[in-house]
Amino acid sequence: MPLLHRIVRKDHQAVAFTLDGKPCAGREGDTLLTAILAQAEALRLSEFSGEPRAGFCQMGACQDCWVALESGERLRACSTALVAGMRIVTSRRRAA
Ligand code: FES
Repeated sequence: MPLLHRIVRKDHQAVAFTLDGKPCAGREGDTLLTAILAQAEALRLSEFSGEPRAGFCQMGACQDCWVALESGERLRACSTALVAGMRIVTSRRRAA
């Protein structure tokens, strides 16, 4: 069950991306954090405790929201705009 439930921008243009290899759709104007948490119950697992994380500061300061692209580029989910075709991987599961 997703952590976030969209209450605004439901009719904005869909933006296709993959999350750990699974096809997903966010909405135009989403950050990666919004797009991911509208699909999943956690953003990633902590590399220290293994506990689920959903970001903390939501403003690019705490580094609790790192995700990566399949290319290996690391991104802060809270301050990165979703772009069509992004292939996002999280520490929850690696893409096949
Ligand atoms: S939630 Fe703090 S940097 Fe993204």
